[in-house]
Amino acid sequence: MENELLMIKEEALAKLDNCSSLKELNDIRILYLGKKGPIQEAMKSMKDMAAEDRKVFGQTSNLVKQELSKAVEDRKEILENQAILDKINEERIDITLPSYKLDQGTLHPLSTIVAEIVELFLGMGYQIAEGPEVETDYFNFELMNLPKGHPARDMQDTFYIDENTLMRTHTSPVQAHAMLEAQGKGPIKVICPGKTYRRDDDDATHSHQFMQCEGLVVDKNITMADLKGTLEVFARKFFGEKREVRLRPSYFPFTEPSVEVDISCHNCGGKGCSMCKHTGWIEILGAGMVNPRVLEMCGFDSEVYQGFAFGIGMERVAMLKYGIDNIRDFYNDDIRFLNQFSRKE
Ligand code: DAH
Repeated sequence: MENELLMIKEEALAKLDNCSSLKELNDIRILYLGKKGPIQEAMKSMKDMAAEDRKVFGQTSNLVKQELSKAVEDRKEILENQAILDKINEERIDITLPSYKLDQGTLHPLSTIVAEIVELFLGMGYQIAEGPEVETDYFNFELMNLPKGHPARDMQDTFYIDENTLMRTHTSPVQAHAMLEAQGKGPIKVICPGKTYRRDDDDATHSHQFMQCEGLVVDKNITMADLKGTLEVFARKFFGEKREVRLRPSYFPFTEPSVEVDISCHNCGGKGCSMCKHTGWIEILGAGMVNPRVLEMCGFDSEVYQGFAFGIGMERVAMLKYGIDNIRDFYNDDIRFLNQFSRKE
């Protein structure tokens, strides 16, 4: 009888040794140690044994059970550890694999130009002013000294929404907003970058929607020299330290006197090239001393206060700076164009 038990044990141990999964292990455990297993079965015959034999047999069968239980536990531990190792191997990430190429977005060149100009003027103590793109005729024209019927209105073909409402044709009305807000008290030092609209036919240098940056300074004792000095700082920081600034007489209803501002060509240094049409100079913006009529209409005493103003065409300066020859490139969203402005950090 005892031999039989030992044989069963050997058989079970051999199976445990070969067993390779937790499921198989459980099956073996049930097969040998379960209620219907051979050991349990053999123990049933104990009741017919002599007392002495029964004791020995009982001890042996308990030992076999203990030994097998322990073997099952040991095997279980081995298999569980193996399962964890298998899982780790299976889930291992190969960090040497090349990654997918992620395209990185980039600022639109006009956004870069706006940021650059804003930073430049903030550094000179200016603040940012804003005004609506859907503007009243009153702000866009009347307060800018362009009453109804004024010939200069024709220079700015306008998208009208109704008789008194329009898409602003320039950022100059923000001057009026800033002055009226200041209620006749200087100083004012603002710039306003923003969108503007005109009923132009789109071509290489015209767009029905474009961007300007208005500048306005109102204070006591402001002179044309302040304007020129300011524009020189702008031109040199923006187009290079060697730039010269030249003022030419011009006309805008909201400034008196008015000037067109040229810089010495940043492409050829003033010698003459195709960019400056062989003149050595490039026109970059319009400016002037705020017309006293505008000051008065916007609540300032023109006997006490003076001001200067300028209007930068953002696409124009961006095109000059980057050598872009078609304004439509800014609005076509052609990724090949935009990618040329990605920052290489
Ligand atoms: N508003 C003008 C335009 O759209 C640009 C301009 C010229 C603005 C002279 C000014 C200025 O502030 O002083 O053409």
